[in-house]
Amino acid sequence: MSIREMLRAEGGALHGQVDAAFGRYALHSRSDYIAFLQAHAQALFGLEALLERSGIERLLPDWAERRRTQALGIDLQRLQVASPPAEVFERTLDEGECWGVAYVLEGSRLGSRLLDRHAAESPDEGVREARAYLGHVPPKGAWPAFLERLDQAGDDPALHPAMLAGQRLAFAVFLKAGLRYAPSTASPS
Ligand code: HEM
Repeated sequence: MSIREMLRAEGGALHGQVDAAFGRYALHSRSDYIAFLQAHAQALFGLEALLERSGIERLLPDWAERRRTQALGIDLQRLQVASPPAEVFERTLDEGECWGVAYVLEGSRLGSRLLDRHAAESPDEGVREARAYLGHVPPKGAWPAFLERLDQAGDDPALHPAMLAGQRLAFAVFLKAGLRYAPSTASPS
């Protein structure tokens, strides 16, 4: 089993929880969309800064083109919303944990594409024009290239526990933020 398969197998339940939490936001609605971006910002700003402090560029040389903090900041500015406080971490990550966190962040793009379609259909022009984060395009072939590097790193089984721990950490941070900002009642979408 490759490390990617292990991450998918272990992460399935966590992904389901995150998906359910974010499924409560009706992205065509301006207030829900703002709350959605705030939740993602709290998690993403914290996790991307953490990866950078932990040396992610050594593992992913094209990291600068993958990071989405700036795109998300632009969306919040367009909607005239203050950035939420980023999740704070006491320590840096080791190499395995970096891979696990990066896997969750890069994997989240798969869902973003779907969500971007909902936001694109909003009757609210403000929502439609603040989609730099959901519509962020990484370098061509970024996902297969990421998976190849991840699996190469996973050739060292000693890294597996930390990789899985990194995944759990990143999903937990998104889940916490997703629940914190969630609209109190689910709006029909
Ligand atoms: C409503 C929100 C979301 C939806 C609808 C969604 C949807 C999806 C879809 C359709 C896939 C592809 C599954 C496949 O090809 O087998 C996927 C994979 C994935 N998503 Fe999400 N997602 C959401 C939120 C998130 C978030 C917030 C994160 C991270 C915090 C995340 C992380 C991942 C990861 C790590 C994968 C697995 C990649 C892989 O190895 O194939 N997703 N998601």
